[in-house]
Amino acid sequence: MTTEQWFPLPLYEYTCSIPERKELNDDLTLSEFEHRPGWGADTHKLTPRPFESNVLEESHVFQQFLQYHVSQYLNNIGIERHDPYHIHNAWFTSTTKGQYAHLHSHGSDDISGVYYVSTNSRDGDIYFHSPHYVSESNYMVKHMNMARSITPKKGLIVLWPSFLMHGTRINETNHNRISMSFNLTFKR
Ligand SMILES: [Fe+2]
Repeated sequence: MTTEQWFPLPLYEYTCSIPERKELNDDLTLSEFEHRPGWGADTHKLTPRPFESNVLEESHVFQQFLQYHVSQYLNNIGIERHDPYHIHNAWFTSTTKGQYAHLHSHGSDDISGVYYVSTNSRDGDIYFHSPHYVSESNYMVKHMNMARSITPKKGLIVLWPSFLMHGTRINETNHNRISMSFNLTFKR
């Protein structure tokens, strides 16, 4: 007799060493933050025109770091031939006390990710909803774990399939969490 679990989704996590983190953070160029027009004042702030810009354009050290971890991610899934990708967009996020991010997805890109520049690890976990969430009226699905939370750490990078719904918990501390988000699309 056997009951197998099928259809898992891959989430990738890697935490940089302190020297690696320093090198990456030196390579990133922060700019000012603003509230996204139409979003509530209790949501996080972003760099201007976040979804139309790529803050990684000049960050060649970070781009190499990203390329390596995307390759690791694909290898871990068993994808042997890696097509080139481009960075569709990338932006910084500032999350101060009382702020959070709504449950959302990054749409039609392939891989989305976040890199934590500055966090005290208590300033709001990122959480992911299982895509099976829509089937929660099913008895078995209702009893399965429908969310996965990840506590931010300085130098942590997380990669996930872009369609996966996620959000961040309220920052209950006085620390301003700074993270960088990005979306990648593979050439087809
Ligand atoms: Fe997001």
